[in-house]
Amino acid sequence: MTSAPLTPHEIRQASASLPRISLAQLPTPLEELPRFSHRLGAGVRVFIKRDDCTGFALGGNKSRHNEFLFGEAVRRGADVVVWGAQVQSNNCRTTAATCAKLGLECRLYLSKWNQNTDIQGNLLLDYLYGAHVELVDARIGPELNALMAARAAELRNAGRNPFFWDPPQVVPLAAISYIVAMAELAEQLQALNLKASGLYVSSAGATGAGVALGAKLLGFTGSVRLICPMHWPWHIPTRIADDANQAAKRLGLPHRLSAEEIDADESYIAPGYGQISPAAREAFFLLAREEAILTDHVYTAKALAALVADVRAGKYRPGSVVVFIHTGGIPAIFADRHQLLEPTPPFSH
Ligand SMILES: Cc1ncc(COP(=O)(O)O)c(C=O)c1O
Repeated sequence: MTSAPLTPHEIRQASASLPRISLAQLPTPLEELPRFSHRLGAGVRVFIKRDDCTGFALGGNKSRHNEFLFGEAVRRGADVVVWGAQVQSNNCRTTAATCAKLGLECRLYLSKWNQNTDIQGNLLLDYLYGAHVELVDARIGPELNALMAARAAELRNAGRNPFFWDPPQVVPLAAISYIVAMAELAEQLQALNLKASGLYVSSAGATGAGVALGAKLLGFTGSVRLICPMHWPWHIPTRIADDANQAAKRLGLPHRLSAEEIDADESYIAPGYGQISPAAREAFFLLAREEAILTDHVYTAKALAALVADVRAGKYRPGSVVVFIHTGGIPAIFADRHQLLEPTPPFSH
């Protein structure tokens, strides 16, 4: 469906009717990366949207998500939260912190399948924020989702009021936070008199749904590259379009996205979810050494690797502006430091 583009103000107005709590430090900075850009050697100006600096609970995209998710949890009068993902989940760390701030009981079910379970990084933070943590064998995706739904049902039967990770309910709401984030980015670009030719973000879910729909709502004409951190047992563009369209409905907007409009690239996942690739490792060190900004090996370094590859391949004309949306995730590097330091540390000491 073609509908007229919206202004950032109109997007914010549409979201104003939804319950929301305040967590993130907004707006996050939009910064140019001159040394990094120079190293790519194609005359392209790379900017970074610092959502690693959302502030709350060490930052990242989930601080934005949780403003809407926990606005809804509070509206429903929830007294316990059931959440889960893999052991080093940024999502669960931010949720543990949100629960602490709201005085809600937090029960985390963390998949230890193929994971390092050292109490480090995000897992350490889960404990520090006071979550009840259970390490489980269920794999992330449908299996873990079913486990969480079962735990939520048990709690309901015991007279509690759980808010839980129920994808059709929570993913569109989380996506709305990134539609609003796109309005924020559009205003920042406008203030600098810049037009972006490309956007890069690590996502195979809510964040990407919000970025893709936000871009369409704002009439953005550049490429919107969603770089998937993992494969899912479903067609990712279809699911992202469905979630984006649910988000549009909740905002009362007529705009819709089709799966064909979603550029969800699964080619940067190898050697696997949570495992760094040579290209991601190079991108990680390029940003760390040229701009003193860290990424993480699971999500953001892989999205940055895609940006690096596209710029080097000449996808953008010299003078073009390309924006990397940094979604955070830094705590996990402390748990998986060997991935960055092996096989050959790219430094001397
Ligand atoms: C650092 C980081 N970036 C990106 C993502 C992807 O977000 P989404 O699940 O909304 O696609 C995640 C998800 O956990 C994340 O932790």
